Amino acid sequence: MTKPVQKRIEMIRETTLLDVDPSKFQIKDLQPDDGEKLGRLLYISYKGTIDDEGGSETDAITEATETLAGRYGNVIWSASKITQDGDKFISATVITDWPKLNPLLAFAATHPDYQKQGLSAQLIQLSLDSLHKLNIPVLHLVVTEGNEHAVRLYKRLGFQEVLAPQKS
Ligand SMILES: CC(C)(COP(=O)(O)OP(=O)(O)OC[C@H]1O[C@@H](n2cnc3c(N)ncnc32)[C@H](O)[C@@H]1OP(=O)(O)O)[C@@H](O)C(=O)NCCC(=O)NCCS
Repeated sequence: MTKPVQKRIEMIRETTLLDVDPSKFQIKDLQPDDGEKLGRLLYISYKGTIDDEGGSETDAITEATETLAGRYGNVIWSASKITQDGDKFISATVITDWPKLNPLLAFAATHPDYQKQGLSAQLIQLSLDSLHKLNIPVLHLVVTEGNEHAVRLYKRLGFQEVLAPQKS
């Protein structure tokens, strides 16, 4: 059976300099050769969620590798962040200059074993801070309606819904 088409909510927030709390984990900028580790994180994070399209871990690694190669626009490396526990990626933000919504929070994900500790909030704030330093004034994102956890997080971080123009 084909999955029904999910409604997507577009959101936007101004970038600002932020005083982000330090992490107990190592945080670094995403690197061009991080596709495999990012793919593994995306696979486990999205598995069983409203956005799970049933793909394999290999599919997720391909998607991540293609994203880093420019599938959704060029990655803005200094604003794309990774939290690591040892060698393992446990949270990530990927920011790209996708022409339709530039810049775009293409991915935000936290490993299920590490969720609800503020890791994603922290990385999104660091991404906003880095974008501001690059003189980029706003950050866009698109989230599936029904992904309540993500929508609540984004609203708490100050993102506002962009309403579609009224059809006359
Ligand atoms: C959405 C997602 C990225 C959030 O990651 P996270 O690291 O758990 O996010 P945070 O911890 O920063 O915040 C999430 C919740 O944890 C709570 N939280 C934050 N710090 C906390 C702490 N120290 N103790 C307990 N709860 C805490 C927050 O209040 C928030 O709760 P809320 O849902 O009531 O707003 C994660 O659930 C995920 O990877 N989901 C699957 C992928 C996905 O849907 N991505 C978004 C696509 S647009």
